[in-house]
Amino acid sequence: MANAKIVYATMTGNTEEIAQAFQESLKKAGAEVELTDVNDAKAEDFKNFDILVVATYTYGQGELPDDIQDFYEDLKDIDLAGKVYAVLGSGDTSYDYMYCKAADDFDAILTEAGAKKAAPVYKIEFNEYDQGKLDEIAQALVNAA
Ligand SMILES: Cc1cc2nc3c(=O)[nH]c(=O)nc-3n(C[C@H](O)[C@H](O)[C@H](O)COP(=O)(O)O)c2cc1C
Repeated sequence: MANAKIVYATMTGNTEEIAQAFQESLKKAGAEVELTDVNDAKAEDFKNFDILVVATYTYGQGELPDDIQDFYEDLKDIDLAGKVYAVLGSGDTSYDYMYCKAADDFDAILTEAGAKKAAPVYKIEFNEYDQGKLDEIAQALVNAA
């Protein structure tokens, strides 16, 4: 059975809600899942999992949340070849071209670290996720792992 790690950053709870719903999707797809607030996570933890998921909101003007900045920086020094990943973003479309920018940044850094993307970044307005879409991404991850 593939094992999965979801690391999330949240301020007002939307991303946490999305991450919890995605945990259920991954379990349904047959993975063993660990869900961790980024404040309790280290980038190197990802080395121990087949499936890597980052769920993050975006702050400032297209910025990474403070809480997840160290995690992001530390990913630059880690080799994640052989792993598959997906990124979930929560944001606000009124930020226009900065919509869910932090999720795009994680997409880029995970690719640079050598992990393989199993599905396009799923950008979600606040907490308005589609459970069917989450299930689809979870299945793609399990199939690719
Ligand atoms: C000060 C501030 C700045 C924000 N900047 C952005 C932004 O640049 N891009 C974006 O898509 N959303 C932005 N947002 C919206 C949040 O990402 C959105 O409300 C998100 O759902 C919060 O997630 P959380 O409930 O997990 O904390 C901003 C929100 C606040 C309060």
